[in-house]
Amino acid sequence: MDRYAVIGHPIGHSKSPLIHTAFAEATGQALVYTAIEAPLDGFAATVDRFRAEGGRGVNVTVPFKLEACAYATDPADRARAAGAANALKFDGDRCLADNFDGVGLVRDIVHNLGHAVRGRRVLLLGAGGATRGALLPLLEQAPAHLFVANRSVDKALALVQEFVGRGAPAHVLEGGGYADLGGDAFDVVVNATSASLGQALPPVPAHALHPDGLAYDMVYGQGLTPFLQLAQTRGVRHLADGVGMLVEQAAEAFAWWRGVRPDTATTIQRLRVPLI
Ligand code: ATR
Repeated sequence: MDRYAVIGHPIGHSKSPLIHTAFAEATGQALVYTAIEAPLDGFAATVDRFRAEGGRGVNVTVPFKLEACAYATDPADRARAAGAANALKFDGDRCLADNFDGVGLVRDIVHNLGHAVRGRRVLLLGAGGATRGALLPLLEQAPAHLFVANRSVDKALALVQEFVGRGAPAHVLEGGGYADLGGDAFDVVVNATSASLGQALPPVPAHALHPDGLAYDMVYGQGLTPFLQLAQTRGVRHLADGVGMLVEQAAEAFAWWRGVRPDTATTIQRLRVPLI
């Protein structure tokens, strides 16, 4: 049977084996998908071993996404732009890499949650790896405006400059601090900071959230995070956590490996933890 795995450190809480096993059952694909914890200094050696044992591909999670991109011989453009990969596919001596986090996010927002990005004002909170992965797929949707706000202002400015240098439209993509947000609200606000993991709130002003818009926290299964609570208090009608993004990025990787795209709705329903 073809073997796949998710590699991370720690890896105990990963939902990827459950998700991919459900996809395999639903699509009739014969594969085994496991979780592997690599030592912090042993990512490449762990992947090498898995390949030598006949592994066909892996998902990669924290803290190895940057190393995964560097490991690959053939990183896709969006993985290169993010500097990070969350999926590898082995083909003889070659190793292809891609980053499906951003497409997973966009698919969840646009397709599952029914919020357009095209022509809208989008705000991304944070300027770390999660934002890097989301930028190209969001820009491909042609938003009217995409603002990257970060606590460390220099980091947001540098990130935006890097993407504009690679061809992102400067009148669409802007960055700065939370104090630079101005008075106009955003239709889609995505929390791509790691603040929710520590029950912290990025200092986004409530007026930046449009009541008819979408507040999206990329974390999964944390209930109403401080960011989503802020959005709720502000009266934002649509709140979402990252369960859909998690399942959609998995579906993209599955399709990339197996040539069949699984249905995601059932798995999202199964994994969804109520926001209350
Ligand atoms: P990674 O690259 O793995 O995503 P990271 O570089 O540590 O991780 O990025 C985490 C992001 O969350 C950063 O944008 C960080 O802001 P700074 O660059 O200013 O550190 C942001 N972040 C984390 N905790 C935060 C908090 N309490 N409030 C606001 N932003 C926070």
